[in-house]
Amino acid sequence: MPDVQDRLGRPLRDLRVSITDRCNFRCTYCMPRETFGPGFRFLPRADVLTFEEIARVVRVAAGFGVRKVRITGGEPLLRRDLPSLVAQLASIEGIEDLAMTTNGALLARYAWDLAGAGLKRVTVSLDSVDEDTFRLMNGVGIELSAVIAGIDAAAAAGLGPIKLNAVVQRGVNEEGILNLAEFARGRGHTLRLIEYMDVGESHGWMLEQVVPAAELLRTIGQRWPLEELPAGYPGEVASRYRYQDGRGELGLITSVTAPFCQSCTRLRLSADGKLHTCLFSTGGRDLRPLLRGEGGDEAVQAELGAIWRSRSDRYSEQRAEWKPRSGGPKVEMSYLGG
Ligand code: GTP
Ligand code: 5AD
Ligand code: SF4
Ligand code: SF4
Repeated sequence: MPDVQDRLGRPLRDLRVSITDRCNFRCTYCMPRETFGPGFRFLPRADVLTFEEIARVVRVAAGFGVRKVRITGGEPLLRRDLPSLVAQLASIEGIEDLAMTTNGALLARYAWDLAGAGLKRVTVSLDSVDEDTFRLMNGVGIELSAVIAGIDAAAAAGLGPIKLNAVVQRGVNEEGILNLAEFARGRGHTLRLIEYMDVGESHGWMLEQVVPAAELLRTIGQRWPLEELPAGYPGEVASRYRYQDGRGELGLITSVTAPFCQSCTRLRLSADGKLHTCLFSTGGRDLRPLLRGEGGDEAVQAELGAIWRSRSDRYSEQRAEWKPRSGGPKVEMSYLGG
């Protein structure tokens, strides 16, 4: 199967698979409690893809050039028997990197099983190491120690290099970024500071809440001098820096102030089987009828290839150019994965 290119000449290399739209956190910037309360209707179980269906999509995508798969959610660890999915994905030819993004609260329990099943590495979301700020931001009062135990278990199980993702919001956790950097440096993990983005519709995003990465770089660089590193692989989302004292790396994800759509090689599969060609998508193309129909892999191949070939998304660049797009409400991050 030949590699495919989209309408802007971008190849397909990454598949990000959301395996559930549920989460045990209610981060204020992602699943605010006012929207995602007791009455919120998550996907019905029957609509959620089985592990076999997911593995089939990954197999087809690998045939088109996907080399990297990231398991996301919601919170992926809420899905029962996750190691069995990991084992299925790890055995697919062509998949060189198999990673997972998690909030870490349940990671201490599952890290060893996941590593044993073939997961290569994890990225843990960690917005603050200040107990009060952390509890406030996760929206459910989960203690910091639970996530730290998860990070430590992942490191012990060999799920590294471990990355810690922090979404920085003006006036919420920006004060704490030096402490976060110190925490990550002390444990040898890479901290990645993410500019707060306008994904989804439920958080009331405002540009004023974004702390530009250049500012974050200045703050951290003044304390621990940094130097820029080249991208680790083509299309890497984070800009990389190393601490001059040799104590590891820092990443900055500048999707608001310096968008990186030009090199975006990512396709996203939602938990209910829709393919989205952009994080800021307003709707996906439903593969479920094909996956549950009689057509076999060929039908899935034809659809996936056609979706990528017709892709022209570059939302973050358009936002930066002040060209707001029409097309209705954007889907939520908790549904599509980060
Ligand atoms: P590595 O494989 O470790 O380099 O990680 P990754 O590039 O897959 O990044 P990760 O999944 O940790 O994503 C970090 C954050 O970057 C996400 O939570 C999003 O906030 C943002 N991000 C990731 N992919 C995209 C993208 O395609 N577009 C935009 N605008 N932001 C993205
Ligand atoms: N802006 C930037 N990153 C976000 N994430 C969730 N919502 C946003 C947002 N509005 C990130 C989380 C996590 C990943 C799943 O997505 O921090 O690392
Ligand atoms: Fe927070 Fe991630 Fe859950 Fe969203 S999916 S509420 S960012 S832990
Ligand atoms: Fe890719 Fe869309 Fe993000 Fe741009 S905004 S980098 S096209 S996912």
